[in-house]
Amino acid sequence: GKKHKVTVVGSGNWGSTISKIVAENTKLYKDLFEPEVQMWVFEEDVVIPSDSKHAATAGSSPQKLTKIINQYHENVKYLPGITLPDNLIANPSIVDAVKDSTILIFNLPHQFIRNACKQLKGEILPFARGISCIKGVNVSADGVSLFSEWIGEDLDIYVGALSGANIANEIAAEKWSETTIAYDPPTMDNSRAPTPRSTSPSIGAVDLAEIPHKDARGRASKSKLTPIPAEYPPLDHGCLRKLFHRPYFHVQMVSDVAGVSLGGALKNVVALAAGFVEGRGWGDNAKAAVMRIGLMEMVRFGKEFFGETVQTGTFTETSAGVADLITSSSGGRNFRCAKKAIEKGLSVSEVEKQELNGQKLQGTLTAFEVHSFLSTRNRLRDYPLFTAVNDILVGKAQVDDIPSLVSKLDQDE
Ligand code: NAD
Ligand code: 13P
Repeated sequence: GKKHKVTVVGSGNWGSTISKIVAENTKLYKDLFEPEVQMWVFEEDVVIPSDSKHAATAGSSPQKLTKIINQYHENVKYLPGITLPDNLIANPSIVDAVKDSTILIFNLPHQFIRNACKQLKGEILPFARGISCIKGVNVSADGVSLFSEWIGEDLDIYVGALSGANIANEIAAEKWSETTIAYDPPTMDNSRAPTPRSTSPSIGAVDLAEIPHKDARGRASKSKLTPIPAEYPPLDHGCLRKLFHRPYFHVQMVSDVAGVSLGGALKNVVALAAGFVEGRGWGDNAKAAVMRIGLMEMVRFGKEFFGETVQTGTFTETSAGVADLITSSSGGRNFRCAKKAIEKGLSVSEVEKQELNGQKLQGTLTAFEVHSFLSTRNRLRDYPLFTAVNDILVGKAQVDDIPSLVSKLDQDE
């Protein structure tokens, strides 16, 4: 039979770390996966930093990042100091990187996904399946959607989500952590569907490109799914676990794609609030307070807008919920940049540019997107912490206003 081919779309701090993880596993499970993993790199010219162990051989002239990764097996810009497996291939062409791949792992800052998908249309296998590692939500005039949903509908494939308390540098250094993968694919995938458009007696001459399927909110999905041909190993929870689980990266499989995706997106807004109060010089009590209120607003948002399928337990019990909120509010980039912004009197985006060497924050954009979504629906009142974060970012409120802004809700009730 055939084996699954894996491509990671994205190669930043987390993209490179997830690529390392899956490339370690494809080498291990040769019966399920082709060992070679492709990683799409948004090409740029990079000078190898002088403190890199390759600096002496590389010289000081700029080189293509893909060339550096393939030669030295290190992403010297976004994941310096970590050796990547030699079966991981950096590819500057997104179209070539996804060619013949059955498993697409989307892992890039959420501001770039739309453009990436535009290039992928018509270029992927119709029966490919995706996992989104993106922490953000997609807000448009129609409302709010998850990237797992949005990518799936755009490319006509099924897409699940991976999210957890996962600061990339710690995982790249193989320090133990947990993650949550939500995957709830069409049942035909796991019942070993025949090759698409066959007239097998077990299934009849149906149009296999039109499998009825529900989206993350339990509604009939707009994506037209093609079942995975029977020559491939079943792409079920067991298979995905083998692709992502490592001794240092423990995977919990669940089915609540909406809860997992929302946890990863909304905690970034709360982590900014945690950074603001820490930067103001307030202590752990204040940080715990914004985390408590933030978690309540995350659950409320999930129940109110994705209520058909989202489970409160995903926020309160999984790595993608409360654990990610805690780690992100302790040492995440959103937290660190928000803290520094208050300490230095700069904007968060100025600190992002100064400190992150091209890495991107997701919390600022998510705060604006969530605010605009809630504001259009006249629903800001029940989300005072999300609103306060937006207002501080745009200069309409100060950190000192947080206590009175968030306590309004308790007084009203
Ligand atoms: P990052 O913050 O390191 O961002 C840099 C990446 O963006 C680089 O690969 C760069 O090439 C790419 N980029 C820059 N301009 C681009 C463009 N115009 N088009 C396409 N790509 C462009 O990225 P990351 O840390 O890999 O984050 C990806 C996702 O993973 C985010 O949603 C993030 O929230 C999530 N995440 C990050 C971490 C972490 O610790 N870094 C952990 C868990 C989840
Ligand atoms: P930051 O993007 O704020 O670093 O958060 C990383 C993360 O998602 C940890 O789980």
